[in-house]
Amino acid sequence: MATSEAVGAPPAVNATIEAKKPATQLIDPYNVAGQVDDSGNIKAIDYDQHSKDFAVPLLTQQHFDRFEAVTGKPVHRLMRRKLVFSHRDFDKILDFYEKHGSFMLYTGRGPSSGSMHLGHTVPFLFTKELQELFDVPLVIMMTDDEKYLFTRNKNDGVQKKGSAVEDFLHYSHDNIKDIIALGFDPAKTFIYTDYEYVGGHFYWNTSEFESLVTHNQASGAFGWNGSTNVGLVAYGAKQCVAAFPSSYPELYGYPDYRPPEFNPEAKRRFGPLASIPTLIPCAIDQEPYFRILRDRCERMTDPHPKTSLILSKFLTALQGPGGKMSASDPNSAIFMSDKPKQIKDKINKHAFSGGRESLEEHRKHGGNPDVDVAYTYLSYFLDSDEELEDLATKYRSGEMLTGEMKARCISELQAFVGDFQKKREGVTDEIMRNFTRPRKLVFGGNPNLGGKASDGVPGLFKTAEANGEANGEASAESKEREDGRGTKSERKAAKLAEKKAEKEKEKLALRGKGEDGEAAS
Ligand code: TRP
Repeated sequence: MATSEAVGAPPAVNATIEAKKPATQLIDPYNVAGQVDDSGNIKAIDYDQHSKDFAVPLLTQQHFDRFEAVTGKPVHRLMRRKLVFSHRDFDKILDFYEKHGSFMLYTGRGPSSGSMHLGHTVPFLFTKELQELFDVPLVIMMTDDEKYLFTRNKNDGVQKKGSAVEDFLHYSHDNIKDIIALGFDPAKTFIYTDYEYVGGHFYWNTSEFESLVTHNQASGAFGWNGSTNVGLVAYGAKQCVAAFPSSYPELYGYPDYRPPEFNPEAKRRFGPLASIPTLIPCAIDQEPYFRILRDRCERMTDPHPKTSLILSKFLTALQGPGGKMSASDPNSAIFMSDKPKQIKDKINKHAFSGGRESLEEHRKHGGNPDVDVAYTYLSYFLDSDEELEDLATKYRSGEMLTGEMKARCISELQAFVGDFQKKREGVTDEIMRNFTRPRKLVFGGNPNLGGKASDGVPGLFKTAEANGEANGEASAESKEREDGRGTKSERKAAKLAEKKAEKEKEKLALRGKGEDGEAAS
């Protein structure tokens, strides 16, 4: 950093980005890079520009107000701080939840290596809090197939050592344990790897969806060409149909009808599942998939409501806001397996600073927290709005130095990562299998509507019954299944969910009597 002008102009993140030098910024599932200007500097990713380019509306105060009105809880800090910043039809999900009591959450992860980094945890932490807040079922897709196909494609068709199908399955399992260590509730969370789970109804939906996407459309969205392996071209349909509750009948108490119980009539019985909307919390790079999805939801045999999205920014690379943390560049990222000393060294050595060249300059002119990586990380992980505000003010005024900002960041990240590692040690294979076993999920949904949504989504499952569809039969069969499948813990979880819902209801009732301002505090 040579002059004071350099504040806000981060250096190149890595060679790939340098080589590509995009004239405009690139954001898709396979490329993320800020725009490169004429003198070769990478600019910060411009999220407002993305919102304009792809007509993805920004979240506004109106959404926050509506969120607080529907949930009775303050809006999430990542939303308040605009780190979760844009959406598609988020308001529709809130409307549906208010009226029908539930929806499905869906997110995922491509397991490209055995260890996750700090940036990977952000959408999961956000998703976890949404799940707790709304008390709804969540599916997490581990795309070992995508990563296998992508890696092989990247290596010109060669299957290198350590990148066979089973290697990616292992990465999936390791990553699932990492995700569990973030604290998800097994009663209402289903985590699966594509290599283990995709089949049955999921695959029926996949075939139908594939028939709605042409080669040209897939190439347009992801940059595929004639040399891309056909597995990768087809993969996108799986990431899309993963958003349909009807891809997972067992989660709602219907049998999956895989052999020996195969029943070609089964699909028609699951009509009610097609009416449940889904919300996908994800980072903005995944949006191209879901653009394709939303255009086709209503064209399925069982039309599905257009999937809603809530989109987050990337956790910037240590080098600055022109790129995201990358697992393949160890100096760009803090890994969830890093030791306290590694965290300290990485932040001290590599974190781009918004501070001034000299102590004297800094005291005089102050620093810029907006481009300061240590401050940026704190804005994701620090709970207290007041402390965050205080840090920014002191930094701007020059009262606080870069070293002090870094020290605050280091202690916060060491605590977060250390706590994670303790929990991760306790996640056994058995615990992992509790999440990956297809089973009926137990969730309460909107407490104002009785808080027992997993017994049937009001207005949906009931409609099926009223129509005399084979719903009764399906639930009898699912009961049979439950007998052999840990119903004890499920019942316990159901009781807990019920109690929790009761409490929430009481709280809400009390709040209703109190002052208006309380919910927003
Ligand atoms: N393709 C994503 C990745 O590489 C994984 C993924 C699958 C995903 N389904 C998703 C991410 C839904 C977010 C939401 O990480």
